[in-house]
Parts: sequence; C-alpha cells; structure tokens
Amino acid sequence: MSSRSAVRLATRCTAFPTKRTVFPASHTTVRSVSKTPKREDAAVATALEYEVPIITYKDGLREEHVVPISEPPVVKPPGGDVRKVAYPLSAAVCDQLTPTMKKFTLNDRVAVVTGAGRGLGYNMAQALAEAGVKGIAIIDMLKDEGEIAARELAEQTGVDVRFYPVDITKETLVHKAVEDIVDHYGKIDIFINSAGIADSNMPAENYSIDRFRRLMDINVNGNFIVAQAIGKEMIRTGTKGSMVFIASMSGSIVNYPQQQNCYNASKAAVIQMCKSLAAEWAHYGIRVNTISPGYMDTALNRVPQLDAQKKMWVERTPQGRLGNVDELNNLAVMLASDASSFMTGSNIIIDGGYTLW
Ligand SMILES: NC(=O)c1ccc[n+]([C@@H]2O[C@H](COP(=O)([O-])OP(=O)(O)OC[C@H]3O[C@@H](n4cnc5c(N)ncnc54)[C@H](O)[C@@H]3O)[C@@H](O)[C@H]2O)c1
Repeated sequence: MSSRSAVRLATRCTAFPTKRTVFPASHTTVRSVSKTPKREDAAVATALEYEVPIITYKDGLREEHVVPISEPPVVKPPGGDVRKVAYPLSAAVCDQLTPTMKKFTLNDRVAVVTGAGRGLGYNMAQALAEAGVKGIAIIDMLKDEGEIAARELAEQTGVDVRFYPVDITKETLVHKAVEDIVDHYGKIDIFINSAGIADSNMPAENYSIDRFRRLMDINVNGNFIVAQAIGKEMIRTGTKGSMVFIASMSGSIVNYPQQQNCYNASKAAVIQMCKSLAAEWAHYGIRVNTISPGYMDTALNRVPQLDAQKKMWVERTPQGRLGNVDELNNLAVMLASDASSFMTGSNIIIDGGYTLW
C-alpha cells in the first residue's frame, strides 16, 4: 500500500461520526488518529485507588507484595504484547480456494470486536481482517491503545476500521456505538467479545465487595449489554450473525495456586449466558459460542510479580508453555465463519492441555 493511501485510511479511522449519534462533541470531531489523544474521555475507566496483593514463591520463600494500581480496572504493565503485521486477503487468492477453504473466509462481513485495543482481542481482529472482513469496529475503554489498533489494522489491511472508546458497562454509550456501527456499515455479522478484566491472588474472605461488583459488572453485565445491543440489530436487520465470547478455562476449573473466586465465577457465568443466548437466538439464525483459553502470554501476565506462579502454570500445562497471543485467532475465524455453521452453544477450551491434569 502506498504511504498516501495509508494516510487516507488512517484519517478515515475517526472516533465517532455525526450521524444519529449524541456523543459528546469531542467524539464527533473528525481528526487524524496520528494525533496524541487526550485522556479526558468520560467513557474511559474511572480512576479509583486499588492495591493488588501479589504472592510470589521463589527459592522456597513466600513473599507478599502490594502493587498500587492508579488506573484500574485495566492495568498497563510494562512491555506490551508482541504485535505482528496483518495482511489483507486478496480477491485473487480467494478465487483460488477450494469450497472447504472458502467457508473459512469472511468476505463482505462486518465485525465488532470488544477489547481489541490490545491482547487477544487485537490479534483476533487482525485474523478477521486476514480472513477478508470489509469492516471492523473496535470497542475498548483504552483510548490510546484503541486508536493505535484501529490505525494499524486499517493501514496494514485496508479494512474500514472504526474505533469507539467506550466502557462496555455503559449501556447508553454501547447502544449509541452499535447504532452508529449499523448506520455506517449497514449490518453486523460478527461479534467477538474479548473485553474483560482479571483479579487474582484475592482470598475470598478478604475480597472487597466493590471490587467483586466491578469485575462482575465488566465480565458479565458488560458482556451482556453489548450482546443485547448487537443481537437486537442482528434480529432487526435479519442478519444471521455469529457471536464469539472469550470466556476462560477458569469458567470450568479452579486455577492454582492463585485465589480468584470472582473471576472464575464471572467466566462460568459467561459460558452459561452464551449457551442460553445460543438457544434463544438460534431461530433467528444467530450462533453464539465461547472460547475458553488457558494461560496466554499476554501483557496481563507479563509482569515480574507473576513469574513464580507462571512457572507453576507452565509445569501444569502438558504442552509446557503459555499460549501465544495469536493462538485463539484461527478458532475465532472458524467460529465467525460458515465453517462452523452447525455449531452453537459450544464452549471450546484452548489451553495446551492444562485442564487434562
Ligand atoms: N490472557 C489470558 O491468560 C486469558 C486467559 C483466559 C481468558 N482470557 C480472557 O481473554 C480476554 C482478553 O484478555 P487479554 O489477555 O487480551 O487481556 P488485555 O487486558 O490485554 O485485553 C483486554 C482488553 O479489554 C479492554 N477492556 C477491559 N474492560 C473493558 C470495558 N469495561 N470496556 C471496554 N473495554 C474493556 C481493555 O482495555 C483491554 O484492551 C479477557 O476477557 C480475559 O478474561 C485471558
């Protein structure tokens, strides 16, 4: 792609257009994503003071650290994810595919991916672009990361990308964003819900109820809010869509050694919520499945305080490693595509064999 068309694509990735939306004025300004975004957005997470206790085990010694987090609930550890380049799927390549391989492609489809500012969500958005989607809307509360992700995706693949810096627990903003997405693209075919937060090393007897509510609000209520908003549009537009929720193996097993009662409960709720949605919406032609990853090597887990625990996770994983940040990609594409047309209500664990032992 020429640098000129890259710039044109980049400037097309504006936060919010003016059609039918009632977002604050700062959202409606058309501007290049190359400018440094301000952090004053009301939709971005409210800053609360939290302290996260982390227990480490090294050389037979147990240590307890307290790590203050100034901007919860989404933590930004040093050293982000390894980011690969995504490539567009050309029409010429598509034409050469056998009928079986063609079913995995997503030409002319429109996807919404929450939590795609970074991590697993961003990688799955790249995979959707490589499988041929024409449009991707990113919803993420991290404004800087979301803008960079949108710009990179558009520049690398030529896909029409829009970014909505929205907290998925804010129902009104989510509905407005989804309305705008449908106004722009005409429909939503694919919904990947990767936005979520984690808490670990939190003994149940000391778990702050505010913190418990906050995690449930994002991982369960927020996930439902977006699913409902998109489900309504899929039903209204008669789109036989596919929804993929990123749950966790923690929805089926209890992790060790860290105590994370609330996270585990939230992911079990996501799995059961999706099975229920799958049953309710099957007659509209909407499919709903969950992916349950084991330990993945994302920025979230790449902090020195987790080194000792990570060693245990690896030892307890038959494949002897964490999953790479792009190792949900192919399953996400399959679930989004016609390659899985008879699958709904399934929960698929991708964990390097962790749950076998
Ligand atoms: N990394 C793992 O080991 C692992 C394992 C199992 C399941 N998961 C699940 O996979 C999903 C993605 O995890 P990740 O490792 O990529 O984490 P991550 O923190 O790198 O990415 C999560 C993204 O979600 C966004 N987000 C969080 N809360 C939000 C909210 N309220 N509104 C909008 N955006 C919000 C964050 O800003 C972030 O960009 C999560 O649901 C997580 O629970 C991760």
